[in-house]
Amino acid sequence: MKFNLGRGYLAAIIAICSFGIAAHGPVTPQSVDTSTLPKLSEEWEETNPYRDEQGDTRKEILRIGASAYNQNCARCHGLEGISGGIAPDLRQLATDYDGDEWYIYRVQNGAVRNGAVYMPKMTEHLNQEALWSIRTWLESVSEKE
Ligand code: HEC
Repeated sequence: MKFNLGRGYLAAIIAICSFGIAAHGPVTPQSVDTSTLPKLSEEWEETNPYRDEQGDTRKEILRIGASAYNQNCARCHGLEGISGGIAPDLRQLATDYDGDEWYIYRVQNGAVRNGAVYMPKMTEHLNQEALWSIRTWLESVSEKE
């Protein structure tokens, strides 16, 4: 009898733990409507092509970028870019060419350790417009100079 109770506990603990994982949601990225953003070519840019946009265009880039970030990156990198420690705080990325280079590397390659996917390859799910709008939004909340 006692033994069974112990097992019940174990099952409950396992159920709670897997619920915790499920609560983070599926890792499948959400598609982003980028039809209102300046069009980019198929080739990957080497620097953020949206960085110097001004006025309404910039506003639209930031609007899409913030929402795309919250849908696709926030569950690991934190809401509003404030990392809870699961993944790096992206407000710390350099806002210049060096940051762009590292950003491109990561969104193209994701992060795999010992065969486990820590971050999916984002370029397989999001287009260049979506990813640069996210980058532009991240620069706008950056903690770097
Ligand atoms: C499933 C979790 C997950 C999701 C979703 C995710 N990432 Fe990541 N990301 C990580 C982890 C973990 C690392 C750290 C990898 C390492 O250092 O090995 C990382 C690293 C990065 C880095 C490098 C940061 C640094 O300081 O080294 C960038 C840039 C990045 N992610 C961008 C993004 C963007 C943009 C999105 C959304 C389009 C995204 N990530 C979605 C888990 C995730």
